[in-house]
Amino acid sequence: MKGIILAGGSGTRLYPITEGISKQLMPIYDKPMIFYPLATLMLAGIKDILVITTPEDQAQFKKLLKDGSEFGINLTYKEQPSPDGLAQAFIIGEEFIGDEACAMILGDNIFYGNGFNSVLENAKENAINGKATIFGNQVRDPERFGIMELDENNNVLSVEEKPENPKSNYAITGLYFYPKGVSEFAKTIKPSQRGELEITTLNDIYRMQGNLKAEILEEGFTWFDTGTFDSELDAANMIRTIENNKDKIICCPEQIAYYRGWIDKEKLQERATLLRKNNYGKYLQKLIDETK
Ligand code: DAU
Repeated sequence: MKGIILAGGSGTRLYPITEGISKQLMPIYDKPMIFYPLATLMLAGIKDILVITTPEDQAQFKKLLKDGSEFGINLTYKEQPSPDGLAQAFIIGEEFIGDEACAMILGDNIFYGNGFNSVLENAKENAINGKATIFGNQVRDPERFGIMELDENNNVLSVEEKPENPKSNYAITGLYFYPKGVSEFAKTIKPSQRGELEITTLNDIYRMQGNLKAEILEEGFTWFDTGTFDSELDAANMIRTIENNKDKIICCPEQIAYYRGWIDKEKLQERATLLRKNNYGKYLQKLIDETK
């Protein structure tokens, strides 16, 4: 199974900050924003990951994440020349995806909570069985998101992008799993009124075929779309609170890689030494010492 992190976009909502830096490279407390979606794909067991960025920002992403070997994964990079919509990722990524199922996560989405592993496992299994999966989370301001309408058995009745009159308050989060062949469907999508290839249109294609599943992220689950000043600060405060309370680093790519056996102790030690001046590095050192 392949994975895509979509980390392009104009970032205009965060100007003047993002005049000089890509949004997805900015910190959310103690790590760059992109570490969070990266950790999510790794948690799903995905090792082949395509990072899509703007042409201007690609060099900085490569400087940070390199070829992925520090995390025991394989990273590929591609440019999105202009922000023409989320579904374009599957056209840009067509060759990379090949004949496999593919997950995509938005570079500004943070997921953290109990039971996430099994939710991801279900989505993977669906994808292998020809079904797409979207993930719903209840929100207060549904008109800001893609929205799913569900029946009592969690079948998806409709999906709508930022509806004026939302049929539910279940937002479609920025994580999507598709079976093989997703690029072919993406290529059939026409630009919407706002000129974008909408991910919601792609999801609706699967829904109309009876091939769209929904997983609901339960109460207590943490999901952030960190697209505004406030949501970024809220996310950072939340991460800080969780980490300080639990005395751990969450959404930590090095830890996932180590626990899954994708990197060995020596490789983890290199990271722990590099990061030794802060709690992140000390946490990595603790993981090594615990397994001595
Ligand atoms: O976060 C979840 C929401 O993400 C979903 O509920 C919506 O259905 C989905 O359309 C999307 O809504 P947003 O309003 O958050 O989309 P936005 O245009 O802000 O783009 C989301 C991220 O993807 C953002 O970090 C920029 C990046 N992006 C966006 C576009 C349109 C790209 O990399 N390329 C693009 O072409």
